[in-house]
Amino acid sequence: MNSHEVKFILDADVDIEMNNKLIEILSICFADQPIFNKQRYFKELPQYRWYLENNNEIIGHVALHKKEINTETTKLIIGGIAEVCVHPDHRGKGFVKLLLSHAHNFSIKNGYIFSMLFGDTNVYSSSGYKTIDNTIKYLDHISGEWKVEIIKDAMIKDISDVEWPSGLINLNGPTF
Ligand SMILES: CC(C)(COP(=O)(O)OP(=O)(O)OC[C@H]1O[C@@H](n2cnc3c(N)ncnc32)[C@H](O)[C@@H]1OP(=O)(O)O)[C@@H](O)C(=O)NCCC(=O)NCCS
Repeated sequence: MNSHEVKFILDADVDIEMNNKLIEILSICFADQPIFNKQRYFKELPQYRWYLENNNEIIGHVALHKKEINTETTKLIIGGIAEVCVHPDHRGKGFVKLLLSHAHNFSIKNGYIFSMLFGDTNVYSSSGYKTIDNTIKYLDHISGEWKVEIIKDAMIKDISDVEWPSGLINLNGPTF
C-alpha cells in the first residue's frame, strides 16, 4: 500500500469505476446490509468521502454528510460520519482514527460545529467521541415516519468551542 495515503473524493465526482470499488468494500464490510450490493450509500448519499487503497482496491473508508440539525433553540451545522469500514485483511492498524482525522480536519476547516455518528464506543472513543443522551427526532427511512427517542449509539465529538446542547435534537432527516 502507498504508505497510508488517505485520498479524498467528492461523492459528486464518483465515476462508475469508483462506484464499483465503493460497492465492493461496503458490501464486504456490511455483509448484513444487502443494500450495499447495489448502491454505495445506506440511506442518503454523503457529500464527501476519504479512503485508503491497496492494489487499486479500497481497503478503508469513511463518508461525511454535511447536516443542518436543530436543537430546541437554534440550528447547528454538523458533520455526520457514516459508512466507516476497513477491509477484514487490514483491520487493527488504526485506520479508523487515521481516516476520521481527515474528516474532522475538513469539518473544522468548513466551520461545522460538531462531528456526530452512530456507532460503538469501543471503536470511536479513542477518536474523541462520547455518547449523548439527548432525545433525537429522525426520519425512519423504511416506514417514512418521524421517530423521537434516545438512540444509544449516538455519539458526538467536540470540534469547536460550542458546548453540546441538552434537550431534543432534530436531525431533520434520517440517521446516518
Ligand atoms: C469497525 C471497523 C471499521 C474497525 O476497523 P479496525 O481497522 O479494526 O479499526 P482500528 O484499528 O482503527 O481501531 C479503532 C478502535 O476500534 C477498536 N475496535 C476495532 N474493532 C473492534 C471490535 N470489533 N469491537 C470492539 N472494538 C473494536 C480498536 O480496539 C480501536 O480502539 P482503540 O483506538 O481504543 O485502541 C471494522 O471492524 C469494520 O469495517 N467493521 C465492519 C463495518 C462496521 O461495523 N463499521 C462500523 C459501523 S459504526
